[in-house]
Amino acid sequence: MHVLLTAGPTYEPLDPVRFLGNRSTGKMGYALAAAFAEAGADVTLISGPVQLAPPASPRIRTVRVETAQQMYEAAAQVAPAADVWVFAAAVADYRPAVVEPEKIKKAGETLTLELVKNVDIAATLGQTKRPEQFAVGFALETTNELAHALGKLQRKNFDLVVLNSLRDAGAGFGHDTNKVSVLDRAGQVLNFELQAKTDLARGLVQLIQSRFVIPHA
Ligand code: CTP
Repeated sequence: MHVLLTAGPTYEPLDPVRFLGNRSTGKMGYALAAAFAEAGADVTLISGPVQLAPPASPRIRTVRVETAQQMYEAAAQVAPAADVWVFAAAVADYRPAVVEPEKIKKAGETLTLELVKNVDIAATLGQTKRPEQFAVGFALETTNELAHALGKLQRKNFDLVVLNSLRDAGAGFGHDTNKVSVLDRAGQVLNFELQAKTDLARGLVQLIQSRFVIPHA
C-alpha cells in the first residue's frame, strides 16, 4: 500500500521575514506516517514547516514544503500512484494577495492585508480520485460538527472524515493526545476515546486498512 499523507501547517509569506500561519504542530500527521510504516505501507509524507524531526523509517519519504501551493504541487505529483490519501495538514485557506519583495515598513495606524483563496488540495485531488483509491480527510468544527463534517466528506470526495473534538481538554492542536469521531459515506459514526496521538494513529490506520479494498486482491 502506498500512502500520500499531508501534515502540519502551511506558511503563506507576506514579505521576506513574515508569514501567515497556524498552530498545527504536525504531530497527528507524523504519528499517522509512523503507524502506516509500522503496518507495512510506503508513505510519502508532505509536510509543512514543523519542529518535528523527519521520521526515520525507510518506508517514509518526507517532502518538506512551506505554502499551500507547494503542498498541492507535491501532493499532485504523488496522488495518481498512491492507493490511500490522508489529508491531515492544516492548510491556510487564504494567502496574501501580494508578497512584498522587501520588508514591509511600519507606516499608518492600521494596515489592511488583502488575501486571496488558496487551492483546496483535498477537494481538487478528490475530483481525480479513481474508484479503487481511498481518501481520508480531517475536519475541525465548532458548531453542527457532524453535519459540517459530512458536508466536507461529500464535497471533497472523502471515504472517511476524522472529526477533531474541540470540546475536550487535551484534544487537538499542540497536545500529545486527541479524541476524534470518524464518519463514513453511509453516515456511520465511530468514536475514538481520548488517547495518545500515537495510539490513535494506530487505530485509524487499522480502520483505514479494514475499509480499503486492495485492488485486484
Ligand atoms: N484541506 C486541503 N486544502 C485546503 C483546505 C483544507 O487539503 N486548502 C483539507 C484538510 O487537510 C482537511 C480537510 O480539507 O483534511 C478539511 O479542512 P478544513 O480546514 O476543516 O476545511 P475547509 O474546507 O477549509 O472548511 P472551513 O475552514 O470553512 O471549515
